[in-house]
Amino acid sequence: MPIPLTRRAMLGILGGTGLAAALPPQTLSKTIATRTEIDIRNASYSFLDGKLTEGLVSTLPDAPPPVIRMRRDRPFTARVTNTLDDYTTMHWHGLRLANAMDGVPYLTQIPLAKGEAYDYELVSPDAGTFWYHPHCMTMDQMALGLTGILIVEEDEDPGFDAEIPLNLRDFRLDGNGEWIDLWTARGAARAGTFGTVMTTNWNVEPSYEAPTGGLVRLRVAATDTTRVYKLFLPDAQAKVIALDGHPLPEVIDMPSSKDNALILGPGQRADIAVLLPEGEDQNVTLLTDAPGAPRVLARFIARGPALTRSIRDVRPLPPNPVREPNLAEARREEFIFGWSPEGDLPNNGVCGSLPYTFWSINRTPWAGDAVEGVGPLATFRKNESVVLRLRNESPNDHPIHLHGLAFRPIGSNKRNLPPYWTDTVLLQREETIDIAFVADNPGDWAFHCHVIEHQKTGLAGYVRVLDS
Ligand code: C2O
Ligand code: CU
Ligand code: CU
Repeated sequence: MPIPLTRRAMLGILGGTGLAAALPPQTLSKTIATRTEIDIRNASYSFLDGKLTEGLVSTLPDAPPPVIRMRRDRPFTARVTNTLDDYTTMHWHGLRLANAMDGVPYLTQIPLAKGEAYDYELVSPDAGTFWYHPHCMTMDQMALGLTGILIVEEDEDPGFDAEIPLNLRDFRLDGNGEWIDLWTARGAARAGTFGTVMTTNWNVEPSYEAPTGGLVRLRVAATDTTRVYKLFLPDAQAKVIALDGHPLPEVIDMPSSKDNALILGPGQRADIAVLLPEGEDQNVTLLTDAPGAPRVLARFIARGPALTRSIRDVRPLPPNPVREPNLAEARREEFIFGWSPEGDLPNNGVCGSLPYTFWSINRTPWAGDAVEGVGPLATFRKNESVVLRLRNESPNDHPIHLHGLAFRPIGSNKRNLPPYWTDTVLLQREETIDIAFVADNPGDWAFHCHVIEHQKTGLAGYVRVLDS
């Protein structure tokens, strides 16, 4: 009589042989739709960790939420339908789209009640790896699993042999697979509240098959509400080709050790080109450094007849059409991120408040999504060049995110930054970074820390770009 094995036990037995049960090879889809429907609903999901029971209830349309694929510069409609009792909106993180499609409650749209739908018309001038998540009831809905990857394809196929989206995030579960408190005052006042189960695409240490000797594009998105990942790929030939959706002008070596890891804060992404080993069944492992010891995020197992690609085949991706700011004539502003003076509790209307205030921008805690008459942090003329000095006066890291615009970090008081475009920059403790951009997309654009407990306890605001 066979003894039933847990998934964990199976991986333990088979892992060393290179025969671990792996998900089938990922192939590139050639047909790309022009619309999709996302119904937000409760679902059950069994995490592939022997300790956990089945039947977890998550707020997600699928597990994980589907990877959305669209083409650069072509219209795409995402119809989002809310079937939850709670309100919601959907936000398309990193896309430089029309302000009315940005999904920020009260600022760009009224939240969706149960049964309501909204057609988000998405047109992206940029190709790259982006993601989507609600911007209402975020601490609940994101923590319960509503974070998905959104891919905008290049005009021409860049020629990888396979592509694997990797949605990195934790869940806060007890040993029985029951949800535990999704946020804590202690966490919100410090680095945020960490999950207890670290997953990749909702699996613990999953394995993926990929062509032997082939070049694989990993699209990594850090969609956790709290964790800062420190990624490395030991014993592999790999290049970082894009950060936060935007191609690097020169590809750079992917770190192979935890001592020089690639750091991705909440909301950030990396596109990594990996050369699979030449021997079938050999594998490559993606790790993140973590307190105690590094942890495996995913394994990639060489399968099938050997291809003979070379890491030298990896070239920079075509640049996105982002306008270069004029630094000499730029308008300059300073934003200070720090503790909050005792403030009134935020009024988030129907979008969920946390019962405390800890953080501020320019000494003012965000008064809440639903508050009328809260002014912008700064107002820019259309097409004005801007330099923002971002000053972190706290001992915690803050991934600072600006909606609707792409910016360039141009200097730090602590480190050298490569030249690149982004929508989210990780401000380290007591770090000051200058960012520059052209304010060429009119609208009210949310600007906040992407540690969601920081965002929800004061570290949020918006900037206004005038229409003319
Ligand atoms: Cu990723 Cu304001 O969001
Ligand atoms: Cu965003
Ligand atoms: Cu923060």
